Amino acid sequence: MLKKIGVLTSGGDAPGMNAAVRAATRRAITLGMEVVGVRRGYAGLISGDFIPLTINSVGDIITRGGTMLQTARSERMKEPAGQREALAQAAAAGIEGLVVIGGDGSFRGALKLTQQGLPCIGVPGTIDNDIYGTDNTIGFDTAVNTCLDAIRKIRDTATSHNRTFVLEVMGRHSGWIALAAGLGGGAESILIPENPIPMDEIIARLKRGAERGKKHSLIVVAEGVGDGIAIGKEIEAKTGFDTRVTVLGHIQRGGSPSAVDAMLASRLGARAAELLYEGKGGLFVGEVAGELGTQPLENVFDKTKGVSRELVDLAETLSI
Ligand code: ADP
Ligand code: F6P
Repeated sequence: MLKKIGVLTSGGDAPGMNAAVRAATRRAITLGMEVVGVRRGYAGLISGDFIPLTINSVGDIITRGGTMLQTARSERMKEPAGQREALAQAAAAGIEGLVVIGGDGSFRGALKLTQQGLPCIGVPGTIDNDIYGTDNTIGFDTAVNTCLDAIRKIRDTATSHNRTFVLEVMGRHSGWIALAAGLGGGAESILIPENPIPMDEIIARLKRGAERGKKHSLIVVAEGVGDGIAIGKEIEAKTGFDTRVTVLGHIQRGGSPSAVDAMLASRLGARAAELLYEGKGGLFVGEVAGELGTQPLENVFDKTKGVSRELVDLAETLSI
């Protein structure tokens, strides 16, 4: 049995990371393991920036956004020398296993450490929901709800002024947030990297809507498609409709986790601690069709999750 494990959060923060830290810590302690928090992701692992985590020290964080351990991006960790430093720091602190809460980049680091003798378990934490092997990642639901909140407010002002709105949401490589928020918020068009829609078609839809007497229109754009401001300008130029653009930005990364995210994070975090206790490593834990499951970390890099075709088709059907 492992005596001591570490927990770190890495890459972009996501609402629910704290709930995962809390669950991993408390489950590990109930299994008889000591827990160390690694601050600032792999950067903190390399520099030995550790704090003890106890039942009490992870109290009162479940509803808080961000990550109490802080997060970082570390180029050094991508180099073999950086990985050796990380392993040496972990060994010196008696850390025998690591829970890595983050996205696919963080999982790459976790795989490297596992291959060099430090067993790691990945917990998918990113608002982008772009990790294969789990239906939802921690933070996705909260981010979508933040977008929906913005859409409701934008609708009010858009209707009052008879305006077209472009809302740019996050998702550098993935359209999940745009698709879920656009579908849930009734957008006319949803522009995502996985389903390109020609500008002519977007314009035609807007004009059809105006002819039907629509008072406003909303187009949700994933940042991976391109600059929302430029898209808004092009739409205005080609339709003559009064158009405004909102770039939602990092608001989507903050806030208290939704019930869905707090639950998911608690389940995944606790399971990660159990897997280390069972002597496992090189895996990540996910939720598929309501059930927790594990897969090799490599699967995340070899397979692409992609967006749901059913949702893409439904969005197209409903945005006549
Ligand atoms: P995310 O985990 O959200 O995808 P990043 O892609 O920025 O975020 O990755 C987070 C961190 O994971 C990086 O800053 C780096 O320290 C580590 N990492 C990413 N790719 C690798 C790699 N190929 N080898 C080792 N570590 C990596
Ligand atoms: O990984 C989540 C994400 O929000 C992406 O959708 C976005 O492009 C990126 O992080 C921005 O990250 P940062 O501002 O931290 O570089």
